[in-house]
Amino acid sequence: MTKHLLKIADLSKADIIELLNLADQLKYEQKHGIVHHRLAGKTLGMIFQKSSTRTRVSFETGMYQLGGSAQFLSSRDLQIGRGEPIQDTARVLSRYLDGIMIRTYAQKEVEDLAEYGSIPIINGLTDYCHPCQILADLMTIREYKGSFDGLKFCYIGDGNNMANSHIVGALTVGMKVSIACPKGYEPHPDVLKFAESYGDMFEMSDDVLAMAAGADVIATDVWASMGQEGEADVRRKAFEGFQVNDAVMAAANEKAMVLHCLPAHREEEITEKVFEAHADEIFDEAENRLHAQKAVLVKLME
Ligand code: CP
Ligand code: NVA
Repeated sequence: MTKHLLKIADLSKADIIELLNLADQLKYEQKHGIVHHRLAGKTLGMIFQKSSTRTRVSFETGMYQLGGSAQFLSSRDLQIGRGEPIQDTARVLSRYLDGIMIRTYAQKEVEDLAEYGSIPIINGLTDYCHPCQILADLMTIREYKGSFDGLKFCYIGDGNNMANSHIVGALTVGMKVSIACPKGYEPHPDVLKFAESYGDMFEMSDDVLAMAAGADVIATDVWASMGQEGEADVRRKAFEGFQVNDAVMAAANEKAMVLHCLPAHREEEITEKVFEAHADEIFDEAENRLHAQKAVLVKLME
């Protein structure tokens, strides 16, 4: 296991399985009132340059449940917001804290924090990737399907941070992956290069129903991510037809599950009907953020 969690590609299949096994154990313990303060006396700093509901609350609660504490550090209030370099922030915070979770725009900022600091760094979402979400998603898929063997994972929508991370995560654990996205909105070139090395385990096209055909998992995400609010109208047009709806579900395996990292925009990337029909899976997915991240915290900070 690496010292940091900067992106999913940092993890081997064995690392991911180890984290998911620990997450399952921590979930069981929490449900049964079994308390282990494995991070007693430890403090996690949580730097947020973007909004958050799930990431903030699940990390803060996770640290509390593990016997440690968490500090919410809005970039608006930190000196980062006034131009203090990330390199200096990293070196200062490393002297107070035992780990940092950061949500920001540029992946480079997260990498710099890891390079200049001396404590574990966890990526809580960048424009490039969202590794914590993927661990929760893989945990949820395994809960519902029992294993990853023989599964086809299909993502429909923007080639954004979620698409980038889904591709790497799903291929690493052995699922087939299909991606349906409009031309011009493809995933990051590095991720496509990674996927190419998996040969016919990976396919991508703008034919939504062909990509969804026989899929065991259908995942989607918003058409305009945080920071792209100004492009929302253009994107709404570009993504017409890239919606998870009845037609997509009819093309998928009849027992297909649906994942959405949330927040969701009903009647844009997913219909209200499909969302509500799969709400149990989607909210288990949200809950599993807590358990999967506690596993990450234990592995990196214990
Ligand atoms: N899925 C997710 O990361 O949610 P938040 O933006 O609410 O943290
Ligand atoms: N792609 C979305 C994910 C939110 C969890 C965003 O970056 O806003």
